Amino acid sequence: MYDFSADSADCVRSVEAGLSDVLTGARLSGPGPAAERLVEAMRHGSLEGGKRLRPLLVRQAAAIFSVSREAALPAGLAVEMIHCYSLIHDDLPAMDDDALRRGRPTVHKAFDEATAILAGDALLTQAFAILADPRCHPDPDVRVALVAELAAGSGAGGMVGGQMRDIEGEEGSFSETDIATMQAMKTGALIRAAVRMGAMLGGADPRALSALTAYAEAAGRAFQLADDILDVTATQEAMGKATGKDAGAGKQTLVSRLGLDEARKNLDAIVADAISALRTFGPRADGLRATARYFAARKR
Ligand code: IPE
Ligand code: IPE
Ligand code: MG
Ligand code: MG
Ligand code: MG
Repeated sequence: MYDFSADSADCVRSVEAGLSDVLTGARLSGPGPAAERLVEAMRHGSLEGGKRLRPLLVRQAAAIFSVSREAALPAGLAVEMIHCYSLIHDDLPAMDDDALRRGRPTVHKAFDEATAILAGDALLTQAFAILADPRCHPDPDVRVALVAELAAGSGAGGMVGGQMRDIEGEEGSFSETDIATMQAMKTGALIRAAVRMGAMLGGADPRALSALTAYAEAAGRAFQLADDILDVTATQEAMGKATGKDAGAGKQTLVSRLGLDEARKNLDAIVADAISALRTFGPRADGLRATARYFAARKR
């Protein structure tokens, strides 16, 4: 029987340790030594408190193809670094202007804005260095495919493009389709990349990759819809970040568009879609099934 709590707790531990290992002055140095203040800010924005759900998705997708947890970790760390960078920048005064993240001051509060921008930039860059390292996967073709996948999920047609749409939405009124596109990009694209990268580590064939992509797209929608519901229903203490801000900031969400009850119904339907996309996989996909359920049921 698959045990979600045990698997996710183990993932949290190994991601924490893996990030802590990589994010040191010695490991980050290039032609020159890494700046100490930058390394401190990168650590502040990455270590402690994250749920590490994206590395969990990498390992669960990889597990379908019998890839070990250890072998799935470097790709998971790369995705998590992009995620942490996206949060550091998302919290900046020019974006969501938040002071609390994972129960601690945001990076620009603990350091300053310029340092937070640079810490995000450096995490973004380091993510690709991890994928390029032969310890990520022995086959260079797979490593290149991982780089391309993470780039697609993170860039103008993925997370960053979605963040742009999110900001544009503050000034306008989005249709349901516009909201879906924005969410598929700002949050869905990285979740999609995480699942697909796990599958690529395991040499998934095109049919398996396409089923997993359908799963990931639904899971990503569920994840952001739950985040938007939690913004309205959960406390700052539970979430470790400010809540109750989206409406005032003019954020376009399905909660503002449909109301809470309808949004919750939608969430259940999307999780069912995610799970049905896995039907060909049998018990090896129980991890991904459990995570889709967790996305909707989570309290933080
Ligand atoms: C928060 O993501 C940002 C969104 C994409 C909604 P998580 O809820 O995964 O944040 P952490 O990493 O656990 O803090
Ligand atoms: C963030 O969405 C998506 C990112 C790409 C970081 P939100 O702005 O809703 O995330 P939170 O609520 O601040 O974590
Ligand atoms: Mg935001
Ligand atoms: Mg935000
Ligand atoms: Mg939010």
